[in-house]
Amino acid sequence: MAAGSLRKKSNKRSNLKQPHPSMASTSLTPFHYRKIYVFVMVLLVVCVLFLLSISSSMWIVFGSNALSHQIYSVQVVNEFPHDPTAFTQGLLYGGNDILFESTGLNGQSSVRKVALQTGKVEALHKMDYSYFGEGLTLLGDRLFQVTWLEKTGFIYDQNNLSKVEKFTHQMQDGWGLATDGEILFGSDGTSTLYHIDPRTFKVIQKRTVKYEDHEVYNLNELEYVNGEIWANVWQTDCIARISHEDGGVLGWILLPNLREGLGAAGNNNIDVLNGIAWDRDRNRIFVTGKLWPKLYEIKLQPVRKPLHGIIEQMCIRSPVHFVKP
Ligand SMILES: *[C@@H]1O[C@H](CO)[C@@H](O)[C@H](O)[C@H]1NC(C)=O
Repeated sequence: MAAGSLRKKSNKRSNLKQPHPSMASTSLTPFHYRKIYVFVMVLLVVCVLFLLSISSSMWIVFGSNALSHQIYSVQVVNEFPHDPTAFTQGLLYGGNDILFESTGLNGQSSVRKVALQTGKVEALHKMDYSYFGEGLTLLGDRLFQVTWLEKTGFIYDQNNLSKVEKFTHQMQDGWGLATDGEILFGSDGTSTLYHIDPRTFKVIQKRTVKYEDHEVYNLNELEYVNGEIWANVWQTDCIARISHEDGGVLGWILLPNLREGLGAAGNNNIDVLNGIAWDRDRNRIFVTGKLWPKLYEIKLQPVRKPLHGIIEQMCIRSPVHFVKP
């Protein structure tokens, strides 16, 4: 009885709900509306979640590269002749299209004044056979130079390259030298960037140069560029842009294309990329290498989509230890 009456009721209800044939496609019950409402809300939530995930991954891809370590390639703006017998260890721009350069190898080490446009060596101080010239920088009117496998450095008069003074530094070795006009920055082939007092040659501060969780070893020739320290990483075609405040790598400059340009003019002796000079007044950047027949003026171009792991592969090397013979 109960069942029968229920069926009766439901039949009655379904009869009532039977739509008029002409209204079949447009008439929606509150139940339908609720279903659509739930569907739209779920779709909205999915869309919002999707957009959030995209934007956060985009921030990781572009944001971190742009903010913490942008990667650059280089475009050659100008090329100049460079003495192909110069084993370049130090380079700097001295104004008026003049470069100062320090060269290495025992018996071939020197400090030189070079005309940018012609590559002509205008003045040369030949070093004693026992010294292997390394990093060079200009502070005031004095050139400061360090030597390899020695704690000995020299100061020269920038006008006639005569030796003014000899000094002893506290780095493990002498590789690179740069200045912000106040203090000296030094490298010794490790991952340490030294801050050095130019009067006492005492180490004021040491910073470990790091890229993500890698220490950047083999820091070689240095240049102070617009508040940053730029360093050649020995045996790579990479320049690290370093914060001298904390040693963090701010960016990487990849220069393998320069080597290709040396092909025709070069010889088999072409050694590593080494030597960065900055013309502060005209914001020009010059780079060359050991025994390179050319010196390049370059412009940086941000790499939009760097290959994953490119820096680890191209720029990060294991530490190397040299022992004085
Ligand atoms: C080099 O110049 C300095 C002054 O700038 C002078 O005292 C010195 O005698 C010069 N040396 C040589 C070898 O001419």
